[in-house]
Amino acid sequence: MDAKTLQKQALEAIEQAKSLAELETAYKAFLGKSGQLTGILRGLAALPDEERKTQGKEANELRDLLEQHFAAKKREIQEQGVLASDSAKIDVTAPGKRIAKGHLHPLTLIQRKTQEIFGSMGFEVVEGPEIETEWYNFDALNIPSGHPARDLWDTFWLKDSDKLLRTHTSPVQARYMEKHEPPFRIIAPGRIFRYEATDASHEINFYQLEGLMVGKEVSVANFKAVIEEFYRQFFERKVEIRLRPSYFPFTEPSFEIDMRWGKENWLEMMGAGMVHPNVFKAVGYIPDDWQGFAFGMGLDRLAMMKYRIPDIRLLYSGDLNFLKQF
Ligand code: FA5
Repeated sequence: MDAKTLQKQALEAIEQAKSLAELETAYKAFLGKSGQLTGILRGLAALPDEERKTQGKEANELRDLLEQHFAAKKREIQEQGVLASDSAKIDVTAPGKRIAKGHLHPLTLIQRKTQEIFGSMGFEVVEGPEIETEWYNFDALNIPSGHPARDLWDTFWLKDSDKLLRTHTSPVQARYMEKHEPPFRIIAPGRIFRYEATDASHEINFYQLEGLMVGKEVSVANFKAVIEEFYRQFFERKVEIRLRPSYFPFTEPSFEIDMRWGKENWLEMMGAGMVHPNVFKAVGYIPDDWQGFAFGMGLDRLAMMKYRIPDIRLLYSGDLNFLKQF
């Protein structure tokens, strides 16, 4: 058989092979020990020089060509096999995988709930910057530099500037009053920062909600009524709170509100008081014209009370097992 015919037959056999076994049989028929092409290659030795050269070249080229075709066909059959077995594994009736759904962080839930309740009592939400000037965070709040009360707030100062990370939401009071005339009721929720040691109830970064109501005749009695109504709606149950006399430079008188925490303990929920005349002066009001109450509550503490979270640090842990519960 001449080389051309042999090539044609071999390529057809490769083309028609449908399985690795069929391909193997075809391979043996042409390139196996007693295959047709192998026979020709062996016979070369017996040929006269001239013919051996030409036929040898032809036969070797044909062998290379066939080897390539066999290898390509083998890959093709193997790939088809993988695909076929994959589709055999797909069970279209199997139930789908559950896709994990995200939800709001407990602190976000608390903030929204708080805004909703104060909103129902006529308080408008305002915001202030987290990077604050010394003036708004301290001076305007009756805490001039050198005043010992600055030590109440361990502060993160920004390098080479009079800027700092606000240590409370109270600067928003001053910012708002500068631009607005009473009467008004506002709340200002936001993130704040303190350079202090952390423990189960203290973080270096946490959330407060400032409240401020100013008018002609706003009294401590109004404050008490607003706060009691807030807690009633927030906890949907009676909670035990106590008012303690305290000190803040920007309020006079000042007090702190604690809530019962376990059998023995009280958790400090907020600082509050009647706006100090010096604060009214700093924002350009005539102090005798106005009265107001202000408060700053810890939103984290509120979340801890509501959801019975034993450690504030859990709120910032990013621990999904914890967060999933809300
Ligand atoms: C203040 O920051 C005052 N600006 C509050 C205020 C506003 C008083 C308006 C008068 C008028 P104080 O440092 O006590 O006060 O913080 C207020 C509340 O924030 C605390 O009652 C507590 O609930 C919460 N809080 C304070 N420090 C931390 C902390 N490290 N981690 C978590 N919550 C805290």
